[in-house]
Amino acid sequence: MHESRTAVVIVAAGSGSRLGLGEPKAFVRVAGRSLLERAVASVIGMREATQIVVVAPADRRAQAEALARDAAGRASGFVTVVAGGPSRQGSVAAGLAAVGASVEIVLVHDAARALTPSALFDEVADAVRASGNGVVPVLPVSDTIKRLGREGQVVGTPDRSELAAAQTPQGFPREPLVAAYAATDVEHTDDAALFAAAGQAVTAVAGDALAFKITTPWDLARAESLLQSNGEAAIALRTGVGVDVHAFDAESPLWLGGLYWPDEEGLKGHSDGDALCHAVCDALLSAAGLGDIGGRFGTSDDRFAGAHGDVFIGETVRLVAGAGFEVVNVAVQLIANRPRLAGRRFELEQNLSGLVGAPVSVSATTTDGLGFAGRGEGLTAIATALIRSGG
Ligand code: CTP
Ligand code: MG
Repeated sequence: MHESRTAVVIVAAGSGSRLGLGEPKAFVRVAGRSLLERAVASVIGMREATQIVVVAPADRRAQAEALARDAAGRASGFVTVVAGGPSRQGSVAAGLAAVGASVEIVLVHDAARALTPSALFDEVADAVRASGNGVVPVLPVSDTIKRLGREGQVVGTPDRSELAAAQTPQGFPREPLVAAYAATDVEHTDDAALFAAAGQAVTAVAGDALAFKITTPWDLARAESLLQSNGEAAIALRTGVGVDVHAFDAESPLWLGGLYWPDEEGLKGHSDGDALCHAVCDALLSAAGLGDIGGRFGTSDDRFAGAHGDVFIGETVRLVAGAGFEVVNVAVQLIANRPRLAGRRFELEQNLSGLVGAPVSVSATTTDGLGFAGRGEGLTAIATALIRSGG
């Protein structure tokens, strides 16, 4: 296990009631990635190796752990996930209890501030180390602030130059923070207030506009458009490639592109040898990162013995959709002397597009008499697929 000197407690146990999407806020996705994953990725971007304690809703611990470890990648061993409490303060306390023995500085961060740059974490940690104080990142308040009475009447206008809006991560020396948490019996609105109430010094550093808290649907839309204008598209495109080769077999009927071809020599294979369909499947599986047709539909699986191409494509499309992707289009080319595709190209495209659920274009070429294709021993099909996720 690591011996980090710094830990970041990411509180992610809230319900997100103001966002109103019916699921805990940390699991809501912005531009295809959950707020929790984005918060973890920001911590991973820090200069130093840091322990990450994620505080998750008790009934979502396992899901939070999977997301956080995935986002941490090679640093997943630095991640601990614990269950939160009914209040943010209770959740922070639960996170603090899981901080490792070697840790000297603790940063507390809202998962809801999902776009916070890694540099802000570094700056807060540096400031705690340099000052020994609690450190809170703040932004100047740009609106004039009014103090209101019970009936909504304005009772004051505080001097704006004395005000600042507090963000997270807020950083603290570990021992006095733990002591302040142990000593308090009231709810504070943030950790800096709790720390100050225990008589400890807190200083401010410059915050970052990107560290804004995603609270309302409007905030979520802002985060989404910021990520898009940053080149991080909400829609992720992926391509894949697939090749299939089969030898001719005069004893078999020919099935190609899911169609029967009378008067043509068939193909050898565990299934019907439909190279066009198999190449399409491989391209789709490749694009989705799901391996290949051999690995997915083994020759030992009786469901696929003698199966036609439509069975393979149907199953492949189901797998690709299950992995969260939508097919944009597929292109497949046949490399062979026979059969001549030209007369049935439209029919092929219609059939394959129907099976895939997206446009499939079909083309053909020969090899100018060269190689096994040129000698008429067999044929090759090569396909590419484009799929998308998100959006
Ligand atoms: N938080 C927490 N445990 C709680 C309440 C809040 O860990 N019991 C976390 C949230 O997950 C969030 C941060 O504290 O990352 C800031 O809280 P807030 O923005 O209020 O989030 P929610 O409480 O989830 O949202 P809402 O108040 O709209 O329900
Ligand atoms: Mg809340």
